[in-house]
Amino acid sequence: MSVVLVTGGSGFIGSHTCLILLENGFDVIVLDSFLNSSPRSIDRVKALIGNSDINKRLTIIEGDIRDYNLIDKVFENREQIGNSIDAVIHFAGVKAISESINNPLKYWDINVNGTCTLLSAMNKHNCKTIVFSSSATVYGSPQTLPISESEKVNPENPYGHSKAAIEQMLSDLYQTSCSDWKIAILRYFNPIGSHASGLLGEHPIGKPANLFPLISQVAAGRLKSLKVFGADWDSPDGTAIRDYIHVMDLADGHIAALNYLLTHEFSYLKLNLGTGKGYSVLEVISEFEKISGKRVPFEVVSKRKGDVAISVADSSLAKSKLNWCPTRSLTDCCVDGWKWQLLNPIGYS
Ligand code: UD1
Repeated sequence: MSVVLVTGGSGFIGSHTCLILLENGFDVIVLDSFLNSSPRSIDRVKALIGNSDINKRLTIIEGDIRDYNLIDKVFENREQIGNSIDAVIHFAGVKAISESINNPLKYWDINVNGTCTLLSAMNKHNCKTIVFSSSATVYGSPQTLPISESEKVNPENPYGHSKAAIEQMLSDLYQTSCSDWKIAILRYFNPIGSHASGLLGEHPIGKPANLFPLISQVAAGRLKSLKVFGADWDSPDGTAIRDYIHVMDLADGHIAALNYLLTHEFSYLKLNLGTGKGYSVLEVISEFEKISGKRVPFEVVSKRKGDVAISVADSSLAKSKLNWCPTRSLTDCCVDGWKWQLLNPIGYS
């Protein structure tokens, strides 16, 4: 059975991916610093899997991806018991655009330096299969819509630069002579929603920065109102358009990418993961109000620095390469996200 090291495995996308990995028979080692996540997400994953051998199949290690000695030990310990790590899914990192503008060195250190450290340990232990969590933010303001992978990489904030730098690092690694790396770079659009049980979901520490958890907390009465960043964008209702993808569809995409790498020789994939359908901020608010039966009061304020008008994926490459297709709608995202909010008013706390 394959063993997968999941960095950042207790985070929003990481925890949903761990669940599907376990459901698909993989053994999982979670490496997480819990800087922006709660270990309780992994307890929920265990509860959802439910069988008695889960503690043998799921290991949790608290630690930082910048700690070479720790990662080295994680690989070594597995080799010693004859159960080596076959692949890594790398989520660990920081992702708040506004914070990255104010504190770029944090983003270069955790995201770029952390990934370099992780790759060095993988290289030493001859584990050369990695699925990397990138972002549509690497495209900046795209020239063509929907955005395909051939669009120019042109990030507009330090967070985006850190993701683009890691992509370049992976590309350089793949292109070294005699390379035997297998690499999948997945560029996410806007992940939202939660597991349909309402047991796993997004757990922002402090006030959320992203639209969906903010809407959810306003609907629940935890926040008074929402600020809509601009109503004079070039879009039908004037608010910005994004490609919102259900976190379970995204998690499925990771398993599909991993299975592709494990069954193909030296591969390098760079794939968009989105639905291809865009919704405006007002459309998301309206759908959430319909599902929750709650009002989401909002006020229009000026545009947020670094935002773009429209971001919608051309995901045809992922669909053809991985035989993966998102199946959940915006309505499903709101139904599941609202269930998570109702069952966990303050996240995992
Ligand atoms: C961006 C990235 C995405 C990344 C995410 C990480 C782009 C195109 N997308 O998402 O790949 O994973 O950051 O954080 O760069 N909005 C409001 N009011 C709010 C919050 C948001 O109106 O209080 C609007 C934004 O202007 C935007 C939409 O809601 O139009 C979605 O915003 P958000 O959820 O923050 O994600 P992005 O910034 O699109």
